[in-house]
Amino acid sequence: MSEVQIRAMLNEDYDEVFAMWQITSKRALSQADRKEEIERYLHRNKGLSQVAVTDGKIIGTVLAGHDGRRGYIHHMAVLPQYRRKGIAKKLATTALEKLAGEGILKTHIFTYCDNSAGQGFWSSMGFQKREDIFVYSYEYDNEKLSEVDGNDI
Ligand SMILES: CC(C)(COP(=O)(O)OP(=O)(O)OC[C@H]1O[C@@H](n2cnc3c(N)ncnc32)[C@H](O)[C@@H]1OP(=O)(O)O)[C@@H](O)C(=O)NCCC(=O)NCCS
Repeated sequence: MSEVQIRAMLNEDYDEVFAMWQITSKRALSQADRKEEIERYLHRNKGLSQVAVTDGKIIGTVLAGHDGRRGYIHHMAVLPQYRRKGIAKKLATTALEKLAGEGILKTHIFTYCDNSAGQGFWSSMGFQKREDIFVYSYEYDNEKLSEVDGNDI
């Protein structure tokens, strides 16, 4: 494999990234991942989300953002054929450094209870599994939103 470059995700990456997520992250996708919403996210969290690129192809992603006090990471993903080579670690480390650069020293992730790869990865990164918290989600009263969003995060 050629060298892997980690760089900030750009609006122009959207189509390639979304195609990648169809392979890696289908269950976690929702209407919040449409082009318009992702562009808004990147705009609100400039330079924090990262992609991994090799031979001009995007092979990994991490969305990173914060609300001014805590960081949140979504869509940590690497294409299957590039896994267990430390690429997710590089992406997450870069995202956490960028968050720290904005003064955000604590970051949360969500993972499905049956996602052993995700849990193994975040544990290896030093994330502590919380046993004291449930996640409650609220959907604004909009039937269309409920139909599309299902159980994603
Ligand atoms: C989770 C994911 C991003 C890991 O990507 P990766 O590039 O293979 O991860 P890395 O090579 O950086 O792994 C670093 C460490 O994480 C841990 N880890 C990674 N994959 C793991 C797995 N499947 N099971 C258990 N631990 C794992 C290991 O400790 C690993 O170090 P090692 O390879 O020296 O043992 C990848 O499997 C993926 O895209 N999965 C589908 C999407 C997903 O579930 N994302 C997580 C959402 S919470």
